[in-house]
Amino acid sequence: MFFRKKNKLSEIDMENLPKHIGVIMDGNGRWAKKRGLPRSAGHQAGADTLKKIVTECNNIGIKYITVYAFSTENWKRPKEEVDFLMNLLLSYLRDSERTLAKENVVIRAIGGREELTEEIQEQIKKTEEFTKNNTGIVMNIALNYGSREELVRAARILAERSKSGEINPEDITEDMISAELYTGGQPDPDLIIRTSYELRLSNFMMWQSAYSELYFTKTLWPDFSVNDLHNAIIEYQSRNRRYGGV
Ligand code: IPE
Ligand code: IPE
Ligand code: MG
Repeated sequence: MFFRKKNKLSEIDMENLPKHIGVIMDGNGRWAKKRGLPRSAGHQAGADTLKKIVTECNNIGIKYITVYAFSTENWKRPKEEVDFLMNLLLSYLRDSERTLAKENVVIRAIGGREELTEEIQEQIKKTEEFTKNNTGIVMNIALNYGSREELVRAARILAERSKSGEINPEDITEDMISAELYTGGQPDPDLIIRTSYELRLSNFMMWQSAYSELYFTKTLWPDFSVNDLHNAIIEYQSRNRRYGGV
């Protein structure tokens, strides 16, 4: 006897989609450990999940997705794991020219570039250039990304502009700060999903998430399915976003 899994897609209100989804892809290591595999196997499986989820977001009509791939704090991990993650990201970017780029996805990297190898920096430029005229979902890969670093960087840019007399410090607005973040020009995330049930942001989009709806699930990132994505969107659509009003 076969039971077809109920398709949740029909329950999504297409008129009320989140414009921008942030994803903290967590739990790769635990996923691998449960299977007696090295952590790297979890990261590899996580990369496959990412491809699937971006494709589905694009198909549904989500305009922006920001995925947390490597934080400014992740350099603390053993060198072997850091090296593996960097290689995985490099091949992900390379492969995306044949995969996501063909699906009309615009791929961008956000985060500090200088700490990355020359090879990765070159590949980022290439992938960004290759996909910049696409018209589908914009995918920000947060790579060596940290919200505090991002805000320090914005503060420095505005300080330089004040120093040169271009702007007055008292004229600095929230919009001017937003504009100097890596996500400048993009809408703030409406929904932030974190897998593996760690209930924190871990330095992810702190400024941009001021009014994001947060969704935490016990599912580990490699297991996160298209159906789980639909559930998160359905839950988001049931929330009452008051923005401080009544
Ligand atoms: C998320 O999975 C991927 C990165 C942070 C690069 P983790 O590697 O943090 O997996 P856990 O949290 O140890 O299970
Ligand atoms: C956050 O996950 C970073 C990414 C998902 C890339 P971590 O696993 O690094 O976060 P903590 O250490 O549990 O806060
Ligand atoms: Mg983790």
